[in-house]
Formats: sequence, C-alpha cells, structure tokens
Amino acid sequence: MNDFKERIAAELVAVRDRSLAYTDAEDDLLVRQHSPLMSPLVWDLAHVGNYEELWVLREAGGITPLRPEIDDLYDAFKHPRRNRPSLPILGPVEARRYIEGVRGRVLDVLDALDPDNPDPLHRDAFVFGLVIQHEHQHDETMLATLQLSREPGLVRDGDLPPGRPGGAEEVFVPAGSFLMGTGTQPWAYDNERPAHRVDLPAYWIDRLPVGNRAYAAFIEEGGYDDPRWWSQEGRLWRQETRAFAPLFWTRDGDTWWRTRFGRTEPVPMDEPVQHVSWHEADAYARWAGKRLPTEAEWEKACGWDPVAERARKYPWGDDDPGPERANLGHRAARPAPLGAYPAGASAYGAEQMVGDVWEWTASRFLPYPGFRSFPYREYSEVFFGGDYRVLRGGSWAADPAAVRTTFRNWDHPIRRQIFTGFRCARSASPEHSPGHSPKHSPGRSPGHSPGHLPKHFPERG
Ligand SMILES: [Fe+2]
Repeated sequence: MNDFKERIAAELVAVRDRSLAYTDAEDDLLVRQHSPLMSPLVWDLAHVGNYEELWVLREAGGITPLRPEIDDLYDAFKHPRRNRPSLPILGPVEARRYIEGVRGRVLDVLDALDPDNPDPLHRDAFVFGLVIQHEHQHDETMLATLQLSREPGLVRDGDLPPGRPGGAEEVFVPAGSFLMGTGTQPWAYDNERPAHRVDLPAYWIDRLPVGNRAYAAFIEEGGYDDPRWWSQEGRLWRQETRAFAPLFWTRDGDTWWRTRFGRTEPVPMDEPVQHVSWHEADAYARWAGKRLPTEAEWEKACGWDPVAERARKYPWGDDDPGPERANLGHRAARPAPLGAYPAGASAYGAEQMVGDVWEWTASRFLPYPGFRSFPYREYSEVFFGGDYRVLRGGSWAADPAAVRTTFRNWDHPIRRQIFTGFRCARSASPEHSPGHSPKHSPGRSPGHSPGHLPKHFPERG
C-alpha cells in the first residue's frame, strides 16, 4: 500500500477503535433506548458496518452482499429512531462480528483501489472518506446518547489548555465577496458544493462563542420569560417544554450545576454554552442586541483569507488541527474555556470556530446554486427546505476528519441533546466600522422576528 492508502487504513482503524470504545459496555446499556430521540447504541454500531458494506463493498468493490436480509433494519429512512428498539436488530456480539467481517473485505477493496479512476466514488478514494466521516458522525451521536443515558464512568475526559480572559468582544469583517463552499476538498459532501461567490455587506461577529457566564446573565435577567426576545415558534417551544436553562442544567440556590456523562458539577462559567436549541440561541442574540450569523457570514469569518483571496481548510490555514489549535476529536468530554486557542484564530481574528461546540446559524438548510446530489439523494437533498437550521464548526466530539470550514451540519431548531452552542453577529452600519464600540449593550434591543412554522421531515441517521 502507498502512503495515501496507509493513511486511509489508519483512519479506518482509528474510527473503528472509537466506535468500539463507546460500545465497550454491558449489553443492557447497548440494547436499551435511552431517549426516543436516539437509537440504541447497538443499532448505530451495526449500522456503520452496514453502510460500509453498501458503499465500499457493494457499490465500489462490486462484492456480493454479505447479509442482504439486514439492510432494511439499518436503513435510517425506513425506521425512525423511536421505533428502532422494537426491530429484530443484531445483538451486541453479532453486531461486532458482522462489522468485523465487513471490515476485513474493505481493506481488500482499499488495496485494489485506483484513486485516479474517474468514477467519483473511486476518485481520491471518496467512498472511504464517505464511510470514515459517516462513522465519526455516528460516534458523535453515540456520545449524545451516552450523555442522555446519564451513566457515569463510560466517557473519557482529558485535559485542555487554559482560557484567556479579556480581548475584543467582536471582530470586524469588511464588505466584499468571498468563495463559499468548495470544489477542491476531495472528501467534501455534495451539500458543500459547488464553490460560488457570495457578496456580503460589512458585519461584526463575536470573537468567541457565547459563554456560560453571559448565558446565565440572560437567564438572570428573565430572558426566558420575556416575549420580546423570542420568535413565535420559539415561544411555542418554550410553552411546550417549559425550558428555563440549557439542557442538563439545574439550579441550587445561587449556583448552576450541570450533569455531564453522569457527573454533576458546577457550571464552569468560562466555557462556551452547550446544549441549547436554535430557539434559545436566537432569543439570546436578540436580547444581546444582535442576531445569529447567517451561514455565509459564519463561513467567511471562519475560512476566508482576504489577503491570499482564497478559502482555507481550517480557520488558521490548511495544516491539520493539533491540540494547540482546536478542541476536536474528543480530547476531553467538554468544550475548552473561552480564549484557549489563540493559535486557531481565523484571518479575521475569530477564535474557536471549529471544535468546542457546533454553532447554530440563522440559515435554513438549502442547496447551493448548481447543487448536484451525490452519491445519493438521502444524504442531503431530501432535507433541503425543511425546518432545519444549519450548524457549523464541529464540536469537541467531532473528529478532524469530519470537520472543515465548508462543512454543513443541520438539525431541527428544537434539538439540544447535540453538542451545540452559538456566537452572535450584527450588521455594521457606517458608524459601526472599526474604532467604534457597539451601540447596543446586552438586553436592550428587540430585533427581527423569523416566526416560521415547522414542517415534518424524516429523522436523520
Ligand atoms: Fe447513518
């Protein structure tokens, strides 16, 4: 095998080790459904193997199906998550045996692969990028399931760099066009393509994600009960859920606590807020006299290099993320403190844009001009135009192999079991060019009101 294939083989091993680590638990924990929002862990485990069989073995390798009778059980579109526990799915032992059998043959396909083959599944080994990213995404989903299970001791937690208090609250992005999406990243998904010019007026965007201290101030000021800050849809969501704080937060006297993978601890005020819905992010932004950035604003602030006139793969450039640049790949089971990654700043000076928390944007999930579905409609196309909002940047639980400045994630605006936070933005008017401080201080100015009604679309993954 050449170097390129060796690297892919190493990525396959790494992602599988990760999946096996998250499912190294008693059978009961793996087959139980911890929340109707999630699959049993053992479903995810066999599903990643089935997906690998479908795409690498059958589609790219032309190999006869190993277990065609189970395809239906692991088709995410046929069975919503809440129904999966009642399916005759493989048990833990059988699931591990099945995915191992698939994997053995996958390495043969890799060995025979010609990355210069013009077939788009083969070119640049796209089909391997597809299954590696897919499995990492399910691993992140499994972490969300483990968080919902509240079982202690199952999830690894490591050390992170210290935060850096102070510094500018916002960074300025001058008016002008940039190249959004990509035509050059070989493992980018169909929804990131094609690259296209987008012209934006000048704006400010928060240098850092919104932290727990600022979010707690929003709660203290009665932000959840003040209808001025909420969209119509957000008010309905609040009435239904009676949400009063981020998911997994509880209050004891003057202290906020959070439960994280079965441990209860005081909320660290210097970390980005996590486990908030789009509605909460939207309301906070309005309270702060700001708004959520559009997806285009987010991507320009994150990836565009205005001097070189080119898009970077990561905020800092094209070099791989290391522990000094971003909190990715489950180094610890939490976001890093605010300001922990000066070396990870974007060309405009925005920090912690990749890693830590997925960031909600104002935008709905829609195709870029010239979009072409690949390799199947159910990856992206069927989700366009639903009530999904786009999330960007990747969380601490996202792997570097599945993160880049153009990567688009999406979910329903009510979801908060995922590792989500946000940052705010605001349009720059002439008096708001650099050198002038923001007109609005937190909690003063009602803004726009989106007020859209949700539609119902199939569950992802
Ligand atoms: Fe999936």
